[in-house]
Amino acid sequence: MFEYLLAAPADPILGLADLYNKDERTNKINLSVGVYKDETTKTPILESVKKAEHLILNDETTKSYLPIDGLNPFNIATQILLFGNENPRARTAQAPGGTGALRIMADFLSRRTKVKRVWVSNPSWPNHRSVFQTAGLEVREYRYYNAQTRSLDFEGLISDLSLVAEGEAVLFHGCCHNPTGIDPTPEQWQAISELALKNGWLPLFDLAYQGFGQGIEEDVYGLRLFANSQPELLIASSYSKNFGLYNERVGAFTLIAADSEIADRAFSQVKTIIRANYSNPPAHGAKIVSYILNNEELKEEWIDELTSMRQRIHRMRQLFVKTLQDKGANQDFSFITKQNGMFSFSGLNEEQVLKLRDDYGIYIVNSGRINVAGMTIDNMSRLCESIVDVL
Ligand code: LMR
Repeated sequence: MFEYLLAAPADPILGLADLYNKDERTNKINLSVGVYKDETTKTPILESVKKAEHLILNDETTKSYLPIDGLNPFNIATQILLFGNENPRARTAQAPGGTGALRIMADFLSRRTKVKRVWVSNPSWPNHRSVFQTAGLEVREYRYYNAQTRSLDFEGLISDLSLVAEGEAVLFHGCCHNPTGIDPTPEQWQAISELALKNGWLPLFDLAYQGFGQGIEEDVYGLRLFANSQPELLIASSYSKNFGLYNERVGAFTLIAADSEIADRAFSQVKTIIRANYSNPPAHGAKIVSYILNNEELKEEWIDELTSMRQRIHRMRQLFVKTLQDKGANQDFSFITKQNGMFSFSGLNEEQVLKLRDDYGIYIVNSGRINVAGMTIDNMSRLCESIVDVL
């Protein structure tokens, strides 16, 4: 039965990790997958996480199942982080990572609502398309990036979203747009929200980088605007990056409905989706997040650690632009310092990306997306020399 299957192409992002690991060059540089690295190129476990983990392991008395929607204190803490307080119209389910939350969203839309079509930005994280299509939804794209001005193509975005029909859904990146690092301004979020209300389509948010843009509060400006003004909203959020809990798979799916009673009914349907998929979520990572967010001292420590990660990335952006100039790049790369989050949409084309990989052992995603969090003071000089060579 399986002999007819063709080999699937490697994943455009995670597939690069395999190639990188097999590369025997000692001066190779990995700027592909969106994982934070410190100045020594290690992905650290946060101190706040380590402390919470010790306390949790000491106090743990059972490994019995969690409820279908996961840990209640985690779900409440998630709402407080997203909205600033518990939202009476919102219901949250702990999910296995941001991707798990997106898959709950996609299955819920496909199996329990009339939504048949989801619009995603062009470009977007490639797995968005895969998740929605695998759940049986049609995926369309709206314009997002203006390659000439290296900024948001807001006119194109509004013009494309004006075509979205009532009953369709549109996905936004809550902050730190992946891959461009360009987010709408408050005024632009406002205009998008008004369009959604006017035309009756359903907004969806993917929030994977809260805290990596301007700060944990600042990064949810658009989301809170939508949460306060839209009758319905779905959110997939992730703790992979901001708690460094990548391999623990901690995320959340949040549904907002017109009122609390509808939210309860809709959420009961969400739980049937989860039950038929993975039954109930794993506990460890969510316990860590919940412990930290519900403990003032640890929460403060976590915010400090998150701030340091954000600031290090920001410093690397500036050093990257300056070093490119010093090494003789004849293009203006200053736009890179204005982008938010881990990624820089460099403008390098696929040929240049492949040359960097083959000839220099520098790994970035084919779209030209560079993970700035993988840059260090030590690898910067070689990185920039190589980029100037291929330009
Ligand atoms: C990325 O975009 O690199 C991350 O979100 C990791 C992933 O799963 O692709």
